[in-house]
Amino acid sequence: MCGIVGYVGERQALPIVLSGLKRLEYRGYDSAGVAAFDQSNGTVHLKIKRAEGRLDNLLKVLKEDPIKGTSSIGHTRWATHGRPSEKNAHPHRYKDVVIVHNGIIENYISLREELVKHGHTFLSETDTEIVAHLLQRAIDQEKDFEKACQKVVNKLKGAFALAVLWAKAPNKLFVAKQHCPMVLGLGKDEQFIASDIPALLDYTKDFIFLEDGEMAFVEPTKVVVKKFDGEIVRRKSHRVDWSLAAAEKEGFDHFMLKEIYEQPRVLRDTFRGRIQSKFDGVQFETFKMSDAEAKKLKSLFLLGCGTAWHASLVGKYWIESFAKLHVDVDLASEFRYRDPVVFKNSLAVAISQSGETADTLAAISEAMKLKLKPLAITNAVESSIARKTKSVIYTHAGPEISVASTKCFMAQLGVLALFSVYLASKRGTQNKKWVSKILTDLAEVPEKISEVLKLNDHIRNIAKKYKDYRQYFYLGRGLSFPMALEGALKLKEIAYINTQAYPAGEMKHGPIALISEDWPIVCVAPQDKIYGKAISNFEEVKARGGKLISIGTEGDTELRNRSDEWIGLPKIREEFSPFLTAVALQLFSYHMSVLNGCDVDKPKNLAKSVTVE
Ligand code: F6R
Repeated sequence: MCGIVGYVGERQALPIVLSGLKRLEYRGYDSAGVAAFDQSNGTVHLKIKRAEGRLDNLLKVLKEDPIKGTSSIGHTRWATHGRPSEKNAHPHRYKDVVIVHNGIIENYISLREELVKHGHTFLSETDTEIVAHLLQRAIDQEKDFEKACQKVVNKLKGAFALAVLWAKAPNKLFVAKQHCPMVLGLGKDEQFIASDIPALLDYTKDFIFLEDGEMAFVEPTKVVVKKFDGEIVRRKSHRVDWSLAAAEKEGFDHFMLKEIYEQPRVLRDTFRGRIQSKFDGVQFETFKMSDAEAKKLKSLFLLGCGTAWHASLVGKYWIESFAKLHVDVDLASEFRYRDPVVFKNSLAVAISQSGETADTLAAISEAMKLKLKPLAITNAVESSIARKTKSVIYTHAGPEISVASTKCFMAQLGVLALFSVYLASKRGTQNKKWVSKILTDLAEVPEKISEVLKLNDHIRNIAKKYKDYRQYFYLGRGLSFPMALEGALKLKEIAYINTQAYPAGEMKHGPIALISEDWPIVCVAPQDKIYGKAISNFEEVKARGGKLISIGTEGDTELRNRSDEWIGLPKIREEFSPFLTAVALQLFSYHMSVLNGCDVDKPKNLAKSVTVE
């Protein structure tokens, strides 16, 4: 996600803000910028500098035209609204207000329309710039900066961390937090603010952590924290003794574990603004289709590699079942070398977290040659695949650092679930009551994932018992088959253990010959419509000496009693079980990797983005 750093005090602010932004580089970004108030000659002079790309580009701009000042805010941007460019980089300014922002303002379209009615025009495509306009208007009306800030934060819906400077009080920083991180770093006659602790560890170890729905007015010698309703909050500071490396991982041992734990937030961000407020439909900011177009659709291709291909297999199930539309799922590396039969009025959807995978790019290019309408589901704004298709639905997972994909996979599932409900309601294959119920169920998934995360210690204990086995079977049926594939891939890539994944019903057609005590079997079997059949298949392998590690639904004594190890997941609408089984499988692979002494975040022979064929 984006990074924010700010400073007020007596020192030159720019070096501090820039070194803080540098500390956040590991998180990924596509543009950067800083603003500072120069008060050196008795007048207040605001300067902003921004640059597309790396911080080094910003440093070059600053070298040519340096900025001075003892109060400053800076930002590294990971694009969500508007492509990465100098124009869309933060800070954004309107008159006396300058602002940086992380997150997504859900109601920015209606707020923007309101401002346009009042004659406002905008310089960028961002949701952030409208907040600068709203704040300046509120200051003009209220004649009081703090009251204006309070008024504006209460108008914003969504997830945001804001940092604001105002020319009329240049030594006062305003920050606000709602579902995005924001910390205050305390100093003597100087204060710091940042979206993340690592940015400030060179300057302070004392932090105040803002809670959601809180804002703060920060001056060199004074920090006032308030709730959005204006009530003063007395918050104690915390001493943080983390090393920089620990702070980057927010205290987790590895990025992969941190990213697994981020998944409830990632899904909420992916659903934000897309599940309509009354659960009566789905909308996408960047993709629209009329009811008539959706009804005319004849088929759909889902194209992806590795983990994205597994997400596509789940997507096929949802789209066919909900929207009654034929779906082909193709490994992107194979699609362009076969001669697919394509129908008029069909869509091709490329799924890729990086948006740079060469095979997926080639597959979607081939689909476009075949006159299929293209769409991309990706996590990277303006990536090659997004630019190629021009039609995109973004996953809002933020940068994924661990090579093995976890939270991006989760966000892909999130978008595919939304997309399948979108198609179902546009095509009229499901009624309003169904749409409302399924969206209510979908909105509850992040909370259920938090419950699965509580099983971490239990899953680690199972991994401890099984860490020395060198081969595993992963079995599932229906929606759990792609999850068996995904679990098996994760164990291969990060723990270097041989895995075979099969639809459980296939075992008797050959693979059962391999069953022995040396091959534990991970059975993915939540209680769904095919569960009874899956149990019979597990019986067959158990009877031949296989050890069963079962991932099922809590309270299911039938499977539990047959299993050697048991991971019981919360009850969930059966179509959404992959969201939960994915987390249990990720945790199992993670612990197996750690216990086998592997380099979890950087497994050998693998790269985060595969840009060769
Ligand atoms: C597995 C993994 C890979 C990617 C695959 C496609 O954990 O990360 O299998 O899913 O290389 O990458 P993207 O999604 O960037 O196209």
